[in-house]
Amino acid sequence: MSVDTGSALPPAISVAGLRRVYETKPQPVVALAGVDLEVRPGEFFGLLGPNGAGKTTLIKILTTLLLPTSGEARIFGFDVSTESNRIRRIMNMVAGGEQSGYGILTVREQLWMFTQFYGLEAREGWRRVDELIEAVGMGDQRLQRVSTLSTGQRQKMNMARGLLNDPWILFLDEPTLGLDVAAARGIRDLVLAWKAAVPGRTVLLTTHYMAEADELCERIAIVDHGRILAIGTPDELKKRVQRESIFRLEVDHLDGGAPSLARLPGVVSASLAADSDPEQQRVAVNLVLTEDAALGAVVSALGGLGSQILALRKSEPTLEDVFVELVGRGFSEETEPPVPVGAEA
Ligand SMILES: Nc1ncnc2c1ncn2[C@@H]1O[C@H](COP(=O)(O)OP(=O)(O)O)[C@@H](O)[C@H]1O
Ligand SMILES: [Mg+2]
Repeated sequence: MSVDTGSALPPAISVAGLRRVYETKPQPVVALAGVDLEVRPGEFFGLLGPNGAGKTTLIKILTTLLLPTSGEARIFGFDVSTESNRIRRIMNMVAGGEQSGYGILTVREQLWMFTQFYGLEAREGWRRVDELIEAVGMGDQRLQRVSTLSTGQRQKMNMARGLLNDPWILFLDEPTLGLDVAAARGIRDLVLAWKAAVPGRTVLLTTHYMAEADELCERIAIVDHGRILAIGTPDELKKRVQRESIFRLEVDHLDGGAPSLARLPGVVSASLAADSDPEQQRVAVNLVLTEDAALGAVVSALGGLGSQILALRKSEPTLEDVFVELVGRGFSEETEPPVPVGAEA
């Protein structure tokens, strides 16, 4: 099944005034406090927020596992409260840290079982299972028992499971949670390849890894305490915080060190970068300027000090800067991936 983006399709996701309250004791928990959201067919959309922000609750409502307390949510025009059967046919969901599956079954048997839940005819079911096992790169594990898979292999199998019904929209709830760098990379590449293969395929991803949202998503909603704080492309979100100009400067030597630049007009701060190596005649300085034009004073000061400029590069703000600006606090350190996306070999 492919999605025809040419015709006037309804939004892939449309959410209005969505609230979800968990009636817990002693106090109810407001997990979603009024969410409005629209995702176009073919978009790669991200929900970025810390633990407890309400991401999983929203995904559960959109995948018809949980009813809203109030408000409305539709998937390709179908109402999550009254048309769950229609929705289940055109979507699928994969969550990180998922323990689904029966350990005694092989990968191939496990996936075939799911084709039966979708009512696929047996021959077609096996065909699709074998095709997806190849697509996710599990050819060598196809006859291996699920209980013997590594965490990364298990998540690849879950991805194959999530694609068995050829969904129009794929919901991914922290799909790389707990995976090592290489396995996480593998899952991200799989998702990108699946999406690129057919126009109109839509992905809603939740993550608390900023670099992952930045790399994958065309648009991102930053969520906290059950509310959307900002929506935009990664670039739009970063521009919101780009009031100061940040540069990285490398010179062969710097008499007087960073302070000799810090006192110049238009320089907010100048600090030595951690990877500075004066012995190798490479001094790196992080410069924060009130505006780009302040660079002129820095360059002429360097001339006066006899420093030769080796490199000068503007640094872009990160989604972390955006989040701190919006929420007034950062994501805690242990919620970041062990190595930032892009920094791996
Ligand atoms: N089944 C539940 N019962 C009570 N409270 C819940 C339940 N599930 C989630 N919550 C609470 O709802 C809020 C949002 O949780 P969740 O949607 O899981 O956020 P996220 O996925 O962003 O971490 C949190 O405060 C969480 O403790
Ligand atoms: Mg969650």
